[in-house]
Amino acid sequence: MSTLPVNPPPSRQKITTRSFRLKKQRAEPITVLTAYDYPTALAIDQAGIDSVLVGDSLGMVVLGYENTLPVTMEDMLHHCRAVARGVQYALLIGDMPFMSYQADVPDAVRNAGRFLQEAGMDAVKLEGGRERVEAIRAIVGAGIPVMGHLGLTPQSVNQFGGFRAQGRTAVGAKQLLDDALVLEEAGCFGIVLESVPVRLAELVSQRLEIPTIGIGAGAGCDGQVLVTHDLLGLFDRFTPRFVKRYASLHEEMNKAFAAYKADVEDKAFPAAEHTFTMDDDQWEVLLRELGD
Ligand code: KIV
Repeated sequence: MSTLPVNPPPSRQKITTRSFRLKKQRAEPITVLTAYDYPTALAIDQAGIDSVLVGDSLGMVVLGYENTLPVTMEDMLHHCRAVARGVQYALLIGDMPFMSYQADVPDAVRNAGRFLQEAGMDAVKLEGGRERVEAIRAIVGAGIPVMGHLGLTPQSVNQFGGFRAQGRTAVGAKQLLDDALVLEEAGCFGIVLESVPVRLAELVSQRLEIPTIGIGAGAGCDGQVLVTHDLLGLFDRFTPRFVKRYASLHEEMNKAFAAYKADVEDKAFPAAEHTFTMDDDQWEVLLRELGD
């Protein structure tokens, strides 16, 4: 009798920027999660998530900084390489860190290129609207897919005076919509909308042909992204209100570490099954050798 499943799943294919656009056309939600290391990337890819973003949120949830500003190109490339080793199918997006694309357009192109050439990424993401259009055009012109990021762009935290929702006034909302259209025209394959009102995110998503990926922007976006450490409950400093927690791994880790400490202190670990043995005759030889 055949052991093949009745309906074998269609063979999985690598997700590309084209798949993003096709998913939008078919109204199929796009799933994106962040990862910064090999085992997490592997688990995300195995779960069938469409895209892995190596976000500069790395700075806060892995490196322990207050915000994303101290993250460097070398930090990003190091973690992108680890993630790329764990992913076979998902579209890999590397986040360009603060000051790697703002100062100078040729520099922006060179830095974007490093994500593909040295770190195995398929695309880059960068923050900002019309003020980034030259850099985006140049990067796309070099053959590198770019994802935009509007709304609460964390690299501008000092300009915003904190991590605050954006686009909540008519003027701010119109500016964001115009920026989204400018980014589409400049060649972005998608745009992250972070912490913007639901209505605005819905409107932007309807007006664009490229997909919007929301975080704190409601269900009207074409896809969703979350910081994996928030979803897993691994980051204990704060949880933004738009996060849904699917696990409490920080607590689980605390429990496991406390149990290990207790076992070692009580001499309950290591037990016999965690140890190696030596044959009696070999032991005798050793004792004779030592003259005991
Ligand atoms: O750095 C990051 O993880 C991001 C996501 C929150 C979109 O930019």
